[in-house]
Amino acid sequence: MADFVGAVDQGTTSTRFMIFDHGGNEIARHQLEHEQILPRAGWVEHNPTEIWERTRAVIQTALTKANLTHSDLAALGITNQRETSVVWNRRTGRPYYNAIVWQDTRTDRIASALDRDGRGDVIRRKAGLPPATYFSGGKIQWILENVEGVREAAEAGDALFGTTDSWLLWNLTGGVDGGVHVTDVTNASRTMLMDLETLDWDDELLSFFGIPRQMLPRIRPSADPAGYGVTRAGGPLGGEVPLSGALGDQQAATVGQVCFSPGQAKNTYGTGNFLLLNTGTEPVRSSNGLITTVCYQFGDNKPVYALEGSIAVTGSAVQWLRDQLGIISNAAQSEYLAQQVEDNGGVYFVPAFSGLFAPYWRSDARGAIVGLSRFNSNAHIARATLESICYQTRDVVEAMQQDSGVVLDVLRVDGGVTANELCMQIQADVLGVPVSRPVIAETTALGAAYAAGLAVGFWKSTEELGKNWNEDRRWLPQWTEEQREHGYAGWKKAVERTLDWVD
Ligand code: G3P
Repeated sequence: MADFVGAVDQGTTSTRFMIFDHGGNEIARHQLEHEQILPRAGWVEHNPTEIWERTRAVIQTALTKANLTHSDLAALGITNQRETSVVWNRRTGRPYYNAIVWQDTRTDRIASALDRDGRGDVIRRKAGLPPATYFSGGKIQWILENVEGVREAAEAGDALFGTTDSWLLWNLTGGVDGGVHVTDVTNASRTMLMDLETLDWDDELLSFFGIPRQMLPRIRPSADPAGYGVTRAGGPLGGEVPLSGALGDQQAATVGQVCFSPGQAKNTYGTGNFLLLNTGTEPVRSSNGLITTVCYQFGDNKPVYALEGSIAVTGSAVQWLRDQLGIISNAAQSEYLAQQVEDNGGVYFVPAFSGLFAPYWRSDARGAIVGLSRFNSNAHIARATLESICYQTRDVVEAMQQDSGVVLDVLRVDGGVTANELCMQIQADVLGVPVSRPVIAETTALGAAYAAGLAVGFWKSTEELGKNWNEDRRWLPQWTEEQREHGYAGWKKAVERTLDWVD
């Protein structure tokens, strides 16, 4: 068998391709950003054709860097930004519209209408999700209603929907020339269209959004030796490699962090933060604003579920300091600037740019910086931004402990923001729980590689994967209990100020 496994990680701001060896070590990577298209306030789009071109380029460049070819890869996995919705024509391969990104709030009327006539409760019960702009169902409905010709094409079976995993899988397996139209259970569980128990599209849920079933992909397990086809010789790999793993990026990071036992949790710090707690083979319903989601399904095994706390804006708040306020010139400077002050100086920043996700689910919220006095400086705003990442995490940890009764003894973290040592220290302080970062911090791509490799026997078991996990760094809480509770009370007050902002 070949010595390596490859993984495409199609994220919100960039696409990367990574190659791993049997020990889970990185052999090569290449990464390219794509444009964030912001046509109006609240709208966020990506160009699917640009994403496919970037995917081709990162695969080719990473293989060249490592001096490898397709025959060195035992399998290929895909992981992706979840919920972001693409609709394309199966005959031309062209998207009908830009991808509507998970952060986009244009469907707020569609989402709020669901709660006025009882449909929302059916969605909660069957799909495990609160009706929100975040998920794909409303985005597909918007495209069907607003882009000419799509509804007719969808009914005729010519318009296909997919999250970006499906879009790339279809292109990698041949596109107009017999591309495979599939997705995995974890991605399907983010649409408001899949029943969590049957793991199939649900006709009642489809009817809520007027979505024809024939436009939806087949749902496969996250690790599946045959369901995703093989790459085409004419594609970016230049030959056939089994596509055998696919997961949404947050579920992939949970797999990459080897959280295979109920009660284990990880928190990924990217554009947003996503905390997932493995709850085992039965879905646990949240009474505290968390999402019930499929964590992974390996082959014919029972699916494993998770409770998830999704936070829309964390790393992207740091980007906002850079791009919109211009008070730092790169993300790393946020740490340096925040270190200039001892504490937040009374300032709290609630970055509710897309409303508030978990555990509040308030699309009427908008961002606020509160508690300012003349004493405050850029450094306090930088510090308050890092704190906002950590307080939002505390909000979801509290909800998770209430829902599951699981008290975290350590929080496993990964993602770009974990390079910010100050932020990780604040996280441990705000939670009162140690924070632990693994040596291999690219857990998202690694998780997709693990799923693909398990499917083809490159790795034999989840126990084998567990041996690849090693701690790199641990931060211990330093605040007193009084500091912790005082700080959190201020945060809760600040959150109150952001609600009811939009009609
Ligand atoms: O649910 C959205 C999430 O999957 C996006 O993750 O890392 O691409 O920002 P990321």
